[in-house]
Amino acid sequence: MRLLTKNLALLLKILNKVLKKSIKLATSVSRKIDFWVRYLEFIPRPDDIFIVTYSRSGTTWMQMILYQLATDGKMDFEHISQVSPWFEEWSPLRLDFVSDLESFKSPRLIKTHLPYQRLPKGKCKYIYVVRNGKDVVVSYYHFYQSHLNYKGTFAEFYQLFMEGKVLYGSWFNHVANWWSHRDKHQILFLSYEDLKEDLKSELEKLINFCGFQITPERFSEVMDRCSFEFMKQHETKFDFATQILVERGINKNSFIRKGKSGNWHEYLSETQQQEFSEKMSKYQDKLKIVKQ
Ligand code: PPS
Repeated sequence: MRLLTKNLALLLKILNKVLKKSIKLATSVSRKIDFWVRYLEFIPRPDDIFIVTYSRSGTTWMQMILYQLATDGKMDFEHISQVSPWFEEWSPLRLDFVSDLESFKSPRLIKTHLPYQRLPKGKCKYIYVVRNGKDVVVSYYHFYQSHLNYKGTFAEFYQLFMEGKVLYGSWFNHVANWWSHRDKHQILFLSYEDLKEDLKSELEKLINFCGFQITPERFSEVMDRCSFEFMKQHETKFDFATQILVERGINKNSFIRKGKSGNWHEYLSETQQQEFSEKMSKYQDKLKIVKQ
């Protein structure tokens, strides 16, 4: 089986080399092929930890938390992706993946926004961070404005989000699918809201789940470093678009934005709130994990 997937990956790689050399139009196709090559070639290590989220749900926060827990936590990296790579991050400039996952030391702390079906499965660990979808839509709207040059109104963006017509598709499906498969793998579900409310207890859950050994002194240092204030102070190390932003002269300091639960109250109309609840109720128990 392994030999078959290896050969398939090799075949796709050769095909993709030809495509990349030919025309610009081939970019989106070659990107897809690259993804499948990565998917087929990837061999999870037993001590890998995947940080799985729908976008804007606390991914970067969890990357920092795990980096602090798994290492001595030095802040000498330029960007968090140098210590915690992004599985599916593909560079349109280089027409290739940004990180060579094999070059990372164990335990690898791999970020992903992929839906359940598309992420390689193995004996490794998965940390799924879920955030209230109404806060996600607001945070995502701001991200689209600050990083993707989005010019539409909140109401327009909200509509796209509800229809799953945004990057990473439907929030509802993402959460529901991961939650439905929770018993099949070593998955720890945490919520953004619980992390905000009681970081200490959530860190203890993570330490137990991952089997880290942390001294009390280190524990309090990790608590400090994972605070909103510390991360905001070092924002450029976390904003994935830092370099591009500087090049393009776009407003920095908008990635780690407010860091609060319930910001949606200021954005969603009564009708939107009701529609959101109705859509959630269609998923019944599958969205039970989401905090209100
Ligand atoms: S991304 O673009 O998908 O990687 O974004 P993601 O990191 O998942 O989510 C960004 C939101 O997380 C908030 N954030 C934090 N909140 C509390 N404490 C800490 N330490 C922290 N770090 C990041 C960040 O501010 C974004 O939320 P909003 O609501 O926009 O402020």
